Amino acid sequence: MLGLRGVSLSFGGVKAIDNLDLDLSDGIVGALIGANGAGKTSVLNVINRFYEPQSGSVQYDDVDILRLRSHQVIKHGISRSFQNVALFNQLTVFDNLLVGADHISRPGLLTNLFRLPKARRHGREARKRAERVLEFLDISHLRARRASELPFGERKLVDMGRALTTDPKLLLLDEPAAGMPEARHESLAKLIRQIPDEWEASVLLIDHSMALVLSAASHVVAMDFGAKIAEGSPDEVRSDPRVIDAYLGPQDAAQQDGAQAEAGLEG
Ligand SMILES: Nc1ncnc2c1ncn2[C@@H]1O[C@H](COP(=O)(O)OP(=O)(O)OP(=O)(O)O)[C@@H](O)[C@H]1O
Ligand SMILES: [Mg+2]
Repeated sequence: MLGLRGVSLSFGGVKAIDNLDLDLSDGIVGALIGANGAGKTSVLNVINRFYEPQSGSVQYDDVDILRLRSHQVIKHGISRSFQNVALFNQLTVFDNLLVGADHISRPGLLTNLFRLPKARRHGREARKRAERVLEFLDISHLRARRASELPFGERKLVDMGRALTTDPKLLLLDEPAAGMPEARHESLAKLIRQIPDEWEASVLLIDHSMALVLSAASHVVAMDFGAKIAEGSPDEVRSDPRVIDAYLGPQDAAQQDGAQAEAGLEG
């Protein structure tokens, strides 16, 4: 269970995160939505300790996350994919997944890994897991390709796979559908929905594709200018007036006010 309380983060005069409370239960897919610059990626950067918030707390199960360093966060089972993808370009897809498996932190596996020489020889468990990830994401055919050869959408899938190979309990996904044709969003949403059951991990998902978010997530938090403006089921959040305003902009909001006045809904 993840819990953020009163988290604020500023860059100079810019409030990237403004007094944010956020809860994510185990075993579900939650989503963070919001316009460009709303602060979504910053939230992930706080959770995995890339950014130091000026105030607030981040709790994961019994762990005070803000007392950890970034590399320790992954050992507590929190892994992420990146908006701009973080892969080793010269390595194959399969080896990129094994890089993820290097961080596997469950005691049994860690012991296994450390008994083997470093570098390219990894534990059988890690290979098995990487194989399972390839199958799950339906990218087995890409296993021998260099990461640099792949189009952005496929690189995003591999980056998600790398995060999944670390055996996370909480998977943070930053815009997994970016660069992917819209026709593939539904199948991606289906994959993400399966993660809690198939991989025993909860997911915190960010994406601009409303269709993907609404289909994949059971709980949605909407942000605007760093603050939470709505929260609830996908349907509740989609129909929330503040979310509509934030997405459609003031012009449409003004039209809506007009329509509401006409309909006698004002006040
Ligand atoms: N390292 C940084 N230095 C300065 N400003 C930053 C930094 N990271 C984020 N910001 C600012 O914080 C705000 C929130 O950015 P963030 O990347 O979290 O938004 P986002 O919701 O992920 O946007 P997008 O949908 O475009 O990815 C923006 O105004 C951004 O310019
Ligand atoms: Mg972002």
